[in-house]
Amino acid sequence: MPNLKGRDLVALWDWSGEDVSALLDLADALKRKPGEYQGALAGRTAFLYFEKPSLRTRVTGEAGMIQLGGGAVTQTPEMGRIGVRETVADVARNLERWCDVIGMRTFSQALVEQMAATARIPVINLLTDLLHPCQALADAMTVREAFGELAGRRLAFVGDGNNVAHSLLVVGALTGMSVTVIGPRGFEPNLRVFDRARELAAATGAALAYTDDPAAVEGADAVYTDVWASMGQEKEAEQRRRLFMPYQVNAALFGRASADAIFLHCLPAHRGEEVTDEVADHERSRIFDQAENRLHVIKALYVALINGL
Ligand code: CP
Repeated sequence: MPNLKGRDLVALWDWSGEDVSALLDLADALKRKPGEYQGALAGRTAFLYFEKPSLRTRVTGEAGMIQLGGGAVTQTPEMGRIGVRETVADVARNLERWCDVIGMRTFSQALVEQMAATARIPVINLLTDLLHPCQALADAMTVREAFGELAGRRLAFVGDGNNVAHSLLVVGALTGMSVTVIGPRGFEPNLRVFDRARELAAATGAALAYTDDPAAVEGADAVYTDVWASMGQEKEAEQRRRLFMPYQVNAALFGRASADAIFLHCLPAHRGEEVTDEVADHERSRIFDQAENRLHVIKALYVALINGL
């Protein structure tokens, strides 16, 4: 049984498949029997830092800690930007005296890594421009709920090779779930992340691929999309809309996946752009299960990283 006490969740690629599996088992238990974990983190505090907007991550990050008997303090850059008002190391040395875990949503992946390298309490990546590991764990939980296991399943990510796609490649590699990223040339996943994920996939047999052909959704168990312009890319939105329209997940594209395929989206969705209402509200859409699972996953992370499994 892996012990995640004191660990960070910065990129997920330093976790093992067993770590992911144990974390998802705990998230399942928290979902099924929340009462058994009431008070598990009484007196504990999460410090949450957001440089970018959030609904799901902020609310689940705060509510999750409250539901476990603890509390959360949220800070935005207007209250003091980490690394500008004082050094990251000094912020870490303060926070570790008062809090039990740090969650960070930042533009820079390096900032989260710097915090994790300095702080003596666990650091959780709540999204950077490079990665979104908490989302990928909730996505893996949702696929596992739908199909009973991840190994051997096929997920097609249709859209920008962005932070969400990157973390899906990593979670797929660790769990044996094959992931194909499908999107226009010029928007491929980061090669460094892709290579890293491919190295991990050698142990599980997950097939990781990129193609610009939308027909590659054929036979997928899960079809996943995300907004075409991520946070910070709003100025490119018009140009991206033209390039990505052939990759819109509409009824025709979703219909090419497996007959029991589920639809996934990390949200927020731009309905009518990357996904049509017909697919977002389809009987096999699991987008709000994914959003719910963000809560169970962050609670599992708090319990596992602070108390241990
Ligand atoms: N999916 C996700 O991270 O949602 P928020 O941006 O609302 O936190």
